[in-house]
Amino acid sequence: MPNAESLEVLYSEKVIAERIRILGAEITQNYQGKELILVCVLKGAFPFLADLCRAIDMDVRIEFLGVSSYGAGTKSTGVVRITQDLAHPIKDKHVLLIEDIVDTGLTLRYILDNLTTRNPSSIGICTLLDKPANRRVEVEVDYSGFTIPDHFVIGYGMDLAESYRNLPYIGYFPPETLGKD
Ligand code: PRP
Repeated sequence: MPNAESLEVLYSEKVIAERIRILGAEITQNYQGKELILVCVLKGAFPFLADLCRAIDMDVRIEFLGVSSYGAGTKSTGVVRITQDLAHPIKDKHVLLIEDIVDTGLTLRYILDNLTTRNPSSIGICTLLDKPANRRVEVEVDYSGFTIPDHFVIGYGMDLAESYRNLPYIGYFPPETLGKD
């Protein structure tokens, strides 16, 4: 595993916080008078959920959805299973899925198909990072923090072999530092 010292910072703690403040204000405005459930897609979205929910100035419900992609490595397989389901029904509620990153879109496609069968009033998508260059299926992102180039990013919830999730910023290892060590 590469050394954290070779990490390039993509978005600092301060930049992330400022962007989330704006996203929170937009969500607050758009969901006024509605019953909103924030569904945090585990594990990577947990810091984003924690910061975003405090930037939303209205009452919201919080739910967690555990999903796991079959297959190891850094590439999505598209085969997803639910490892921890929502604790409450979402029928007739407004759901906003909270993701750390949308890459191929395969994970969200599966989640959307699954949750739609439960008849919510609406399902929106809020992702901190969007990597449209890698998209394999179409998903409509409603709120996006940053559109990123094709880096394998870590930190602020995102991992490399389960490490680095607790970094307060988002970074990536330059290609020349990978494969060493
Ligand atoms: C990451 C991320 C998204 C998914 C995006 O989860 O949190 O759920 O990949 O990739 P996709 O658009 O190509 O499907 P991961 O499977 O790494 O699990 P984790 O959140 O537990 O780290």
